[in-house]
Amino acid sequence: MYTPAIVFAREKLSIIDQTRLPRRLEYIELHSIPQTCTAINQLKIRGAPALGIVAAYSLYLAAKTLRPARYELFKKQLDDSYRRLLATRPTAVNLKYALDRMKKIYNNPDGHNISRIRKLLLAEAREIHLQDHHACQQIGEHGLQLVSNPCTILTHCNTGSLATGGWGTALGVIYAAVEKGYKIHVYVTETRPLGQGARLTYWELLHNKIPCTLIVDSCAGFLMQQHKVDLVLFGADRIARNGDVANKIGSYSLASLARVHRIPCYAAAPASTFDLSIAAGKQIPIEERNGKEILQFYNYNNNLLPFIRLYNPAFDITPARLLTGIITDQGIIKQPLAGEIKKLFKSN
Ligand code: MRU
Repeated sequence: MYTPAIVFAREKLSIIDQTRLPRRLEYIELHSIPQTCTAINQLKIRGAPALGIVAAYSLYLAAKTLRPARYELFKKQLDDSYRRLLATRPTAVNLKYALDRMKKIYNNPDGHNISRIRKLLLAEAREIHLQDHHACQQIGEHGLQLVSNPCTILTHCNTGSLATGGWGTALGVIYAAVEKGYKIHVYVTETRPLGQGARLTYWELLHNKIPCTLIVDSCAGFLMQQHKVDLVLFGADRIARNGDVANKIGSYSLASLARVHRIPCYAAAPASTFDLSIAAGKQIPIEERNGKEILQFYNYNNNLLPFIRLYNPAFDITPARLLTGIITDQGIIKQPLAGEIKKLFKSN
């Protein structure tokens, strides 16, 4: 049903270059840490879970090519790769989640046999990938209970197979409903400034022959006012202990509008997106990207550019109180989210 964004086969890591979509479906190989870091910075690969998976495989490939004389040197070089990968994008906690798992392996207290550590690193990267695949499946299955038949769903950014190791989180719920034969219509927000909705989600849905309509971000309120939206679903880049959700800029506006119009609004995310070290959303680092991304369609003369003030945060925080709930791979949690999150992670 879907085209995988990340393929690891015959010791080679390939990703779909998402900057080429929807015009071209092209896989590129990532051979080194600097190459992976550039690909992440340029959003050739993006989406919180996908970032973690790619970082894990890249760290393994780095471990494979290093030829250190001693374990201490090997570890030092991997620590450096860890830091470089982690610094690429600050908001998506899945990057840290995956890198920390890899670090735990190469810090192996049971012995410093480098070739054994390499094998374990590969197994861990594969496991991170596979677990995300399963988590997406589970999110889809749990989310199904929130979907009526027929249902019109509004979604934001891209949370599908291009953003994860499976069929997606919020989009996973949509795929699960379609697979069950539900009559679904999806409103896809453009997702300014980089058009992850227009370029990626719309492409995925077209590819899967799922009925959908593209709207500009600012059309969402009008659609809701006309009773054209039954459910709002988006993903998450990091979820704080109190249930505040960092996600693509515009998610907060959508949740606020959904509240005004009494439409259920859910974030969908695997356990790896929860950051229990963070009490509330205001502590989540928000990536600010080059303001030029905002201006790409507007034909300003270069000589005017220095006079234009730009502010381009890539994410915002939806306060927990604006969400009806969160769809996780372990089940759906509803209000009060803080208590439910505590319970969820206690039982794990
Ligand atoms: O800047 P991006 O494209 O990486 O932002 C992605 C999002 O905000 C997604 O909604 C989020 O990572 C969840 S993906 C399952």
